[in-house]
Amino acid sequence: MTKPVILTGLRANNDLTLGNYFGGMLPIIDTAKTRSDEYQINMFIPDLHSFTTPTDHSQLYEQILQTAKLFVAAGLPIDNENIHLYRQSHVSAHSELTWILDCFTGFGQMSRMTQFKDKSSDKDDVSVGLFNYPVLMAADILLYGARYVPVGDDQTQHLEFTRDIAERMNTRFGNLFTVPEPVKKQHAFFGNDQGLRIMDLVDPTRKMSKSANSEKGVIFLSDDPSAAAKKVMGATTDDKAFVAFDPLEQPGISNLLQISALLAGEPLETVIERHAGQTRYGDFKSEVATQVNDFLIRFQTSLANVDEATVIKKLEQSEAAMNIQAGETLYKVQQAVGLRPKA
Ligand code: TRP
Repeated sequence: MTKPVILTGLRANNDLTLGNYFGGMLPIIDTAKTRSDEYQINMFIPDLHSFTTPTDHSQLYEQILQTAKLFVAAGLPIDNENIHLYRQSHVSAHSELTWILDCFTGFGQMSRMTQFKDKSSDKDDVSVGLFNYPVLMAADILLYGARYVPVGDDQTQHLEFTRDIAERMNTRFGNLFTVPEPVKKQHAFFGNDQGLRIMDLVDPTRKMSKSANSEKGVIFLSDDPSAAAKKVMGATTDDKAFVAFDPLEQPGISNLLQISALLAGEPLETVIERHAGQTRYGDFKSEVATQVNDFLIRFQTSLANVDEATVIKKLEQSEAAMNIQAGETLYKVQQAVGLRPKA
């Protein structure tokens, strides 16, 4: 019996934030570590998705490798044969299945995708690739019969589309695809704290995001550690003058408590108790600033120490294995639509 598959794609991105790290990367790496006995874990870099919006192509190849190294630096075990780390464009079945699925996808349905509408509004260089993005994502998932797909809120509509096209193809052609679990079951499986939010330091009512107006509120994994510490010192607080966890009344202080707990690997409650009633925000901030500084030094050192040859070897091994798995699904679909002889 083959194992059920947990699959996720993490975009090549060299400006990941502390929020991406704790809210996205670490939970997924944790899932990979703890569930690889019962599940096949597919973690891949959707490199074909990386230029649905304009990109600097001269940097892309290095950036993709860098993303793979980031996972390793963040603790992804690559000596585990149930964990696969691969690049989408190295498994050509992704592109081939996308074309077939395209021809069973309604133009109207794609036009209604919220992410497409958001990303294409007031732009004049909108590509067909951006429009088609969810179909490629459906192919990513269906090729491996993935059951669990941890994605952020912004991707749930794409996951619903994947279920929809899988069900339609199954109805028409017999059981071709495993339909991934609905979003509710995904949440039940992965737990809700996957959606953990680190807020912007300057505007702590907004999620920390690289698209913020100012970089002062955003800590990037590539930030100079002492510059990042200064960002913490400059974080917006309030005039209450006592440290307490109250995200509504004291969003800035609450955010710093959260960041401190994550960096220390301690339960939030412990950190809240330790600081309860502290009246000098400056002291509290400089503690968190030191934590951020130390964390970035450690992370950047381990990233620099990741052995590139080992990572490339892992990618190539996984890509060879995935070409076989994905190729089997593609062949079944090709048979079903009449491109290959029937079984
Ligand atoms: N679209 C996802 C994102 O932007 C990345 C992605 C591509 C993905 N293909 C996927 C995620 C398949 C999960 C499954 O975050």
